[in-house]
Formats: sequence, structure tokens, C-alpha cells
Amino acid sequence: MPKPKPKVFVTRIIPDRGLSLVKDFCDADIWPGELPPPGEVILEKVRGIDGLLCLLTDPVGAEVMDAAGPSLKVISNFAVGVDNIDLPEATRRGIPVGNTPGVLTETTADFAFALLMAATRRVVEGDRFVRAGKWKTWGPTLLLGQDIFGATLGIVGFGRIGRAVAKRAGGFDMRVLYYDPWVTDGPGAGALPAQSVDLDTLLRESDFVSVHTPLTDQTYHLIGADALAKMKPDAILINTARGPVVDPDALYHALKNGQIAAAALDVTEPEPVPADSPLLELDNLVIAPHIASASRATRGKMAQMAAENLIAGLKGERLPYCVNPEVY
Ligand code: DGY
Repeated sequence: MPKPKPKVFVTRIIPDRGLSLVKDFCDADIWPGELPPPGEVILEKVRGIDGLLCLLTDPVGAEVMDAAGPSLKVISNFAVGVDNIDLPEATRRGIPVGNTPGVLTETTADFAFALLMAATRRVVEGDRFVRAGKWKTWGPTLLLGQDIFGATLGIVGFGRIGRAVAKRAGGFDMRVLYYDPWVTDGPGAGALPAQSVDLDTLLRESDFVSVHTPLTDQTYHLIGADALAKMKPDAILINTARGPVVDPDALYHALKNGQIAAAALDVTEPEPVPADSPLLELDNLVIAPHIASASRATRGKMAQMAAENLIAGLKGERLPYCVNPEVY
């Protein structure tokens, strides 16, 4: 009798580059829905599984781990951010947790720059203006924005993605400031023409503030009313990290009252942004549905990494990309 394949639950259909590996190696239950499985479905589906491949939309805490039971050998997240997973709890139980670092760095940095440029040069407002039939002639003061070239960019969180954004800023001759008390001078930080400053200096001096921190207790609402009040009135805020790093109510008031000029968000608190959120009434906000890493190539690589983490964990091997290596 051949050995039964390990049982896994995959919480969404991921690109085939990863899914095919999972299907070959495992007895996989794959949630077919376009929306995440509801909490009670996850609790049901994980019962007795050996491995879980989940998404950033799936909260995985003690309750899910309890429901899975002692057979659970690995949790593999299809994301670099792991704030949806109770890491201390997984670590306490000796369960390795995998993520997908590196492969989405450049794609996400591209998108942060796309948002920066869209908000600053009023691309989305321009599009709406044209489609509404309002374009009557070339206008000397029509939809004026700000220059990006030569401006000061403040990067909050100077990890892989923050640094990739700094590299792009070099092409625009920007002055780059960064604030990162979490990842001190890691590889590459010193090689970039960027100056480490405290958060107040960054907020006061930057024309653009781009957020690239993970979501932790320390970064929750880091950009709130106080921080926004320190920014220049013509400054623009970009968030491609995690929604709750920016306080949405404080941001609404800052945008509405002209405390800052504009914002561009790929992530919100909560996600998705509620259809009746007052933020959506603002013309000086560009908003996208958490798609910064959404290139075909990158999502394929993320799927492969997530599958490789899952399969390594099932084999009892060290995960290639493990966020809690202290389990070993
Ligand atoms: C991540 O991986 O954490 C991004 O937010 C989604 O790609």
C-alpha cells in the first residue's frame, strides 16, 4: 500500500506554478471561492490536516491551530507579511511558519512609485475628468500637480521594499530620508544615497512619505493625527505596506482639511475599504485594492515559494523561508 499523501488545506486557488506542486505532493483540499473561506469553514476544513497554505486574508490564531490539532506540521503564508498569523502561538507549538520574501520586492516598489506618481500628477483625477466630458481645452492651470524630480522622499521602514523604492528615487534625483528603528543598517542600506533620520525630521522635511513597515504593535497607527500634523501641507502619503499602519480617520481629516495635499493607498483599515467610507468621497485620494505585488510573474513566484515552504514542512525539513526559525 502506498503511503497516504499528507492532508493540506489551501484557502484559495493560487497560481498554478505553486498549486501544481501542492497537488502533486499532497492530498489537497482547495477552497474554490473567490472570497476567503469564512472563519467557521476554516475551523472545519483544518481538522486533522498536516499543513495549511493560507493567505493574508485568513486570520490564523490559536483557535485554528487547536482545530487542526497535533498533526499540523506547517503553516505557509502566500505573502511576505505574516500579521494574519499568531506567530508566538505557532512558535510555542513548534509549528514553523513560512512566507514569501524577496520575490515581490521590486514589483511592490514599482507600484509604490506608480501610486506616488499617480497622486502627485493627478492621473486618476485626470482620467475621471476626461470620462466625465469635462475636457474642453488645454488649460494653463488645469489639474496642476507637483514635481517629483528633485523632491524629498521620506521612507518609513527601510527593509527590502523601502530600499527598492529608494533606488527608484535615485532616477528622479530625489533626496531620500529614511526612518527605521527596527531593521538597523542591514545589507544594502549604507550603499544607497539615503539619510537615516528620526521620524519627526522625516515627516517635517519630506514632500512624499512612503510607508514600508510590517504591521506590528509598534507600527499600528504610526501615521496618525500627530504624524500627519507634522507633514508639509503639500506633502503626499503613500501606503503599500499594511492598512492599519495609517489611522484612516486621521487621514480622512488631514486630507479633507488640507493638512496634507494627497494620499495614495494600496492597503486600508479595514480591508476591503467599506463602500461608504468617507475616504472614497475625496478627490485627493488614490486608492487600489491591495495589488502592489500583483504582477503575473511575481504572484507565480510567490505561489511556488509558498508551495515549497509547505512541502518542506510536511517532509519535516527546514522551511526555505521561515519567519520563526526559533522553532528549530
Ligand atoms: C504581502 O505579501 O504581504 C503583500 O501584502 C501581498 O503581496
